Amino acid sequence: MIRKCLFPAAGYGTRFLPATKAIPKEMLPVNTKPLIQYGVEEALDAGCDTMAIVTGRGKRAIEDHFDISYELEHQLKSAKKEHLLKDIREIINNCSFTYIRQNEMKGLGHAILTGEKLVGNESFGVILADDLCINDNGKSILAQMIDLYNRFECSIIAIQEVDSKDLSKYGVIDGKEIESGIYEVKSMIEKPEPQDAPSNLAVIGRYILTPDIFRILLDVAPDKKGEIQITDALKIQAQSSRVLAYKFKGIRYDCGSIEGFVKANIDLYKRK
Ligand code: G1P
Repeated sequence: MIRKCLFPAAGYGTRFLPATKAIPKEMLPVNTKPLIQYGVEEALDAGCDTMAIVTGRGKRAIEDHFDISYELEHQLKSAKKEHLLKDIREIINNCSFTYIRQNEMKGLGHAILTGEKLVGNESFGVILADDLCINDNGKSILAQMIDLYNRFECSIIAIQEVDSKDLSKYGVIDGKEIESGIYEVKSMIEKPEPQDAPSNLAVIGRYILTPDIFRILLDVAPDKKGEIQITDALKIQAQSSRVLAYKFKGIRYDCGSIEGFVKANIDLYKRK
């Protein structure tokens, strides 16, 4: 059973400055909903009841967003506009939120390790809110991955095919297809030059991790930038136990880039 979902949310969002000077990038809205709320809804849909959020300085708005605003609710009630907060109220009623601060920016692996205190000794989901994933025709991406975890009981990572010119933006896997869309990971490399990439299968921001990943992360050497990469820990886990990569069903918007963020806004607006 996967009950907890971790949200690394301590990054500065420099690509979106000046918008992210005083607002966390996770709170940027795609239409009327902040990015992180899409992630939380996906985790809830997948059966998680605890959202473990790794924050940093200047991220208070995230905590306030997932809390009840009695004053606002009171005002909306008198104006008969309570429906505007219906979705967020439902989230607040159906799960709990825990928070921890990442004091130093030392990469995604370090953020996940910081979340250990919230997660404890159990397998858990990870959602990078920048990657907005939608599946109109069935289960959410995290729910699909949890189904796979329930079958194989090992770490699962989401992948998709990308153009070779874009591979240097992602973790890239070297794997063997064992069933349609499911790969046994042999190795992984973080942000390779196109000529060094072992495949065109890029990691997208959804992971199910078994708790031994925390011990592995403790031993991972920092990269050239001094960051601890989850990709390096998963590579070790793939070689010492098992990691599967899964080509998910659905669409992913790269909301960490301006282009992807604008596209998500336009597409989701049209779908309404
Ligand atoms: C992170 C991971 C990378 C993964 C990507 C997915 O990179 O390090 O392996 O492919 O998320 O969005 P970031 O985009 O944070 O640089």
